[in-house]
Amino acid sequence: MKILLTGGAGFIGSHTCIELIKAGHKAVIADDLSNSKPAVLERLKELTGQDIPFYNIDVADKEKVDSMFAKENFDAVIHFAGFKAVGESVAKPLMYYRNNLDTTLTLLEAMAKYNVNNFVFSSSATVYGVPERVPLVEGMKTGCTNPYGWTKLMIEQILTDAAAADKNLSVVLLRYFNPIGAHPSGRIGEDPTGIPNNLLPYITQVAIGKLPQLGVFGNDYPTHDGTGVRDYIHVVDLAKGHVKAIEYADKNKGTEIFNLGTGIGYSVLDIVKAFEKANDIKIPYVIKPRRDGDIAECYADPTKARDVLGWQAEETLENMCKDSWRWQSNNPKGYEE
Ligand code: WQD
Repeated sequence: MKILLTGGAGFIGSHTCIELIKAGHKAVIADDLSNSKPAVLERLKELTGQDIPFYNIDVADKEKVDSMFAKENFDAVIHFAGFKAVGESVAKPLMYYRNNLDTTLTLLEAMAKYNVNNFVFSSSATVYGVPERVPLVEGMKTGCTNPYGWTKLMIEQILTDAAAADKNLSVVLLRYFNPIGAHPSGRIGEDPTGIPNNLLPYITQVAIGKLPQLGVFGNDYPTHDGTGVRDYIHVVDLAKGHVKAIEYADKNKGTEIFNLGTGIGYSVLDIVKAFEKANDIKIPYVIKPRRDGDIAECYADPTKARDVLGWQAEETLENMCKDSWRWQSNNPKGYEE
């Protein structure tokens, strides 16, 4: 299939691009590089041996999206592009709603016009809000605690309604848990702007000496060691889930939701210890107050993805820690070398 990857220069998009090409598909990237770097495209060429067509566009721009669709003859779209910082979404909600919803609507309109019928969406476990219980199953109650999460949930609804109205449309909603790690080559990985919000990039920047110590947000949660528990998944496993999802969409109409997680919950301190052991580096940390909006525990029941998509996460936590560190240590300034 020929697949449009919006946000294909980002962390998850770039890893998915490699796995799609490995599986024999063709990828085209549309990205405005607002939160990614052009160097990603050179690295993707180096890793895949292919010149991946690239459109430096905002996918809310109707005219540019239309002319790209007119030219490319896509079979499918995977929509990664979007604003994704929780805190920023609380400060600038309208910017988040405008951007994340507009891009999706623009894509859906172009897909209808050019008869492109397969859509895979980057959703998030954040749509489960404060979980009633774990592990999280796809049918459980949803509800969000911040505008970023609401954009994900609203887009899930828009796509579900679009697929109900258009019997040719296939929609797969992928609810990601916590993607970490990097490509084992050490050539592509996560390159956050400024001080990282997420745990692993923070740890790797402490490890490289860019940040003095990790702040652990709370040690009084009802978990095995008091720190927050999450389902960390290797980004390459996650990328492979997209290959299965796009192939599933091609064969099945309507909407399906899948959790992409490992099913295993690790605490913040479990991650610190695993990182230290895997890479033989000490990570100094201090306990800080809980972070607003955080929950105690969040991990997936990944059974549906295994049974229906034939996909399962395979990488160990040790490899996730090693690959995160290889990327950071080989690229101390990210893509800015
Ligand atoms: C993981 C754990 C923190 C940083 C968020 C979004 C979600 C998704 C991914 C994406 C928690 C603790 C973290 C630090 C810490 N969004 N922590 N010190 O919060 O599960 O998910 O990112 O685009 O929608 O909500 O991930 O990596 O921020 O935190 O102690 O410096 O690490 O409290 O328990 P989270 P995270």
